[in-house]
Amino acid sequence: MEIEGLKGKTAELARELQKEKLPRHVAVIMDGNGRWAKKRGLPRVKGHEKGAKTLRKVVELSAKLGIQYLTAFAFSKENWERPREEIEFLMDLLRRYLKNEIPTLIKNDIKLEVAGDLEELPEDLQEKIKDAIRKTSAGKRLDFILAINYGGRAEILRAAKGMAQEGIFSQESFRKHLYLPHVPDPDLLIRTSGEIRISNFLLWQIAYTELYFTPVLWPDFNEREYIKALLDYQRRERRFGRV
Ligand code: FPP
Repeated sequence: MEIEGLKGKTAELARELQKEKLPRHVAVIMDGNGRWAKKRGLPRVKGHEKGAKTLRKVVELSAKLGIQYLTAFAFSKENWERPREEIEFLMDLLRRYLKNEIPTLIKNDIKLEVAGDLEELPEDLQEKIKDAIRKTSAGKRLDFILAINYGGRAEILRAAKGMAQEGIFSQESFRKHLYLPHVPDPDLLIRTSGEIRISNFLLWQIAYTELYFTPVLWPDFNEREYIKALLDYQRRERRFGRV
């Protein structure tokens, strides 16, 4: 594919991408921000700051490629166990990210959505998130989903309760009670930083998802690394349990 704005080796790699073989939904676990900062003798939060810039690039390239859904794990339910200053920094980074990105999201025809329990977040942040969702709701090119205060088991429990209340026990009914029932399951899940685990992300949805693990730390995950992951995905044969 010929992608505007890419140069040199990255543009060359992008030419190997086949449009018809791209994943419809990519999910990312953005891991390794802390280690990236530590390696440079910087405070951990500097890694998160650089990580937010990486996310912006991944969102933009996803839209250019024509990927329809991108889900990024921004804050897990387990992240509340981190030092208070780091949590406050992450909440503030999210505030700034939303403020700065809304115009770009609108310009690029991207819709923001959120998966997770928002009511446990600071009230002003809840309002800012709702406002960003409202302002970008007309976006048609890419559905950009931020998983915030998200946990896979919590989502499963929530869907099970919803299903029980409805009194219909089936996969279809269960799915209706997920945070975002209209979003198809991810085709590709990327985790950076060399950890080979799922860490409570999208447990129900990844039943048949292709998994891609790379040692690259999230702040270093650039366009070229993203295209490498997509090329790897294209080479796989998906069978969904069939022969
Ligand atoms: C994991 O790295 C990353 C997080 C817990 C937060 C992810 C957040 C960002 C990438 C910031 C951008 C997002 C928004 C929208 C504000 P880690 O801290 O666990 O790294 P480590 O494993 O090396 O310690």
